[in-house]
Amino acid sequence: MIAQEELPMVAMPSMNDTHLEDIILINQLSAAAQSRNIPATKIFLEELIEHSMAHFSGEEAMMKEYNFPPLAIHKAEHDRVLKELNNITRIFSEGEGDFSLVTSYVDGSLIPWLLNHIETLDTVSAMFIVNATKS
Ligand SMILES: [Fe+2]
Ligand SMILES: [Fe+2]
Repeated sequence: MIAQEELPMVAMPSMNDTHLEDIILINQLSAAAQSRNIPATKIFLEELIEHSMAHFSGEEAMMKEYNFPPLAIHKAEHDRVLKELNNITRIFSEGEGDFSLVTSYVDGSLIPWLLNHIETLDTVSAMFIVNATKS
């Protein structure tokens, strides 16, 4: 679980909106896993993958449009996490509903990564894009 107030803000409101949707989905996933609801956990895992794909490709398209130099580094992080999310979803779906796998991944890996990613790469990218649109 992650509180809305913990979400770091970047210079682009559209990115902040996407990040807010992201943590709402993550919290729904956590709640589903904590209540040991297999169908709901699967649905929120799938929704989180879909949302993350749109979230990441949206940022990458903007970085490309404004020729943001560290695009490859930023994209590599997105790709790595997307792969992790897909793996967790596959293992959860194939198994007998390993809820602790999902909760430990979300709390121990995904949330700390997301907060750090927003504070670093997303913050820098948003600042660069906002400055580029001004000039
Ligand atoms: Fe982001
Ligand atoms: Fe990002």
